[in-house]
Amino acid sequence: MLDLCLVNCKLDSNAEEVCLGIKGGKIVSIKKLPAHADETIDLNGQIVLPGLIDVHVHFRDPGLTFKEDFHTGSAAAAAGGFTTVLDMPNTLPPTNTPPAFREKLKIGQKKSLVDFGIHAGVSDLSHIKELAELKPASFKIFMDLVDGDFLLKAFDKIKGVAADHVISLHAEDSQLVQQCTRIMKKEGNDPELYAQARPPQAEIKAVEAAISLAWKYNQKVHFCHVSTQKSLQLINNAQARGCPVTSEITPHHLFLDSSYLNRFGNMAKTNPPLRDKENQLGLKYLPEIDIIGTDHAPHTLEEKKKSVWDAPPGVPGLETILPLLLTQVNQGKLKLKDIKRLLCENPAKMFHIPHKGFILEGMDADLVVVDLEKDGVIDSANFHSKAKYSPFEGFKVKGMPTMTLVRGQKVMDEGEILENHGKFVYA
Ligand code: DOR
Ligand code: ZN
Ligand code: ZN
Repeated sequence: MLDLCLVNCKLDSNAEEVCLGIKGGKIVSIKKLPAHADETIDLNGQIVLPGLIDVHVHFRDPGLTFKEDFHTGSAAAAAGGFTTVLDMPNTLPPTNTPPAFREKLKIGQKKSLVDFGIHAGVSDLSHIKELAELKPASFKIFMDLVDGDFLLKAFDKIKGVAADHVISLHAEDSQLVQQCTRIMKKEGNDPELYAQARPPQAEIKAVEAAISLAWKYNQKVHFCHVSTQKSLQLINNAQARGCPVTSEITPHHLFLDSSYLNRFGNMAKTNPPLRDKENQLGLKYLPEIDIIGTDHAPHTLEEKKKSVWDAPPGVPGLETILPLLLTQVNQGKLKLKDIKRLLCENPAKMFHIPHKGFILEGMDADLVVVDLEKDGVIDSANFHSKAKYSPFEGFKVKGMPTMTLVRGQKVMDEGEILENHGKFVYA
C-alpha cells in the first residue's frame, strides 16, 4: 500500500500521463495505472518536475533574522517550487567555525520547511579540516573581501585537508572594486553608477585568478552568479580543457540589464551588479551555463531605501524564478528540460546531494507541480520572504508552481504553506 499516489502527471510537455507512487518519502513506482494509496491526488495532466534545488540562498539565520529567517526563507522556497536549498555562510556569526556550523544545522533542523545544506565560510584556515567533517555543501570564499595571498593559502589548505570539496566563489577582485567604488562615489548618487563601481573587469580578473588556482590544485571551483560574457567564456574554455570549474547565473543577471538600476533603484542593487547589454548574459547563454542559483539575498525595505552607496546589495529570488522561466517555456524560448538541468539535475550532481534532482524510482519524492496555463503578475507584497521587494515587480508571467512536495509531504498547496520538518541533506 502506497502513502500517496499522484495520478495523471505529465513529466514533460508532450509525455504520456503517469502515476507516481510514493511511500516512506520515496518515489517507489512510476506507472501507467494508479495503485492503492492512503491518499490519491489527481493532477489532471499538469506537469510535475523534480523539486527545484537552489544552491545559493542567504537565509540570514542566525543573527540577521530581521531580514529573513530559516522559516520564512524556506517558506519562500516552498512557495517557489524549491525542495532543497544550500545556505550561504555570511550570517552572524558567520558559518566559519565548527560551533557556528553546528548552530546553523540546529536552526535548519528546527525551522526549515524544505531540505537544506550549509556552505561553510573560510576565515581561520585552522578550522577547515574540522568543518569538512561536518559536511558543508562547499567552502565559500568572497573574493571581493579577501586578497590574493589569502585565496592561495585557502586553496592550498582545502586541497590538503578537505580534498574533493567544492570551493564556491564570489568572484570580484577586491582591489579593483575598492578603487572603482572610490572613483564612482565622487560622481553622485545615481543608482546606475553602481554598475561602474564594480565593473566587468573586476569579475573577469577574479575569474582569471581563480581558474589558474583551479588548474594548479586540480580543485573543483564553482563560480557563483557569473555576470559577464567574458567571464563565462573563460570558465567554459577552461572547462572544455578539463579544468574542474562550473558556472552559475542568477535570475536577475539572466533577465535584467543595468538600465533596471534606473527603473528600480536599490531594489535592483546586487553584487555583482547588473551589466549593460554589451556585457550581460542573456537567455541565449543558458545552454553554456551549468546552474541557475537565485542568490536569494533578502534585506529590509528600510535598508534598501538608503542612498545607493549605503543600501545593502541583494534581492530575494526564490518566489519569482519558476514563473519567470515557465513564461519563457510558454513563449517557446526555453524547454522544461532546461529548467530540470539548471535547477534540479546539475545542482544535485555538482553539490553531491543524494537522492534528489530526478524523478526516478528510489529517489526522494521531492516534486513541484506546475500549471503552465496560470497567469500572474509578480507582486512582492505576496512574498513569503520577509523581503517585500523585487526587481521583477509588475512583470507579467504565465506558468506557476501550484504544489510542492518534500519527501512526499505537501509543503505548498495552491500558494498555501504547510508545516514540515526539513532535513540536512548531507546527514
Ligand atoms: O548581492 C549580494 N548580496 N551579493 C553578495 O555577495 C552578498 C549578498 C548578501 O548577502 O546580501
Ligand atoms: Zn556573491
Ligand atoms: Zn550570494
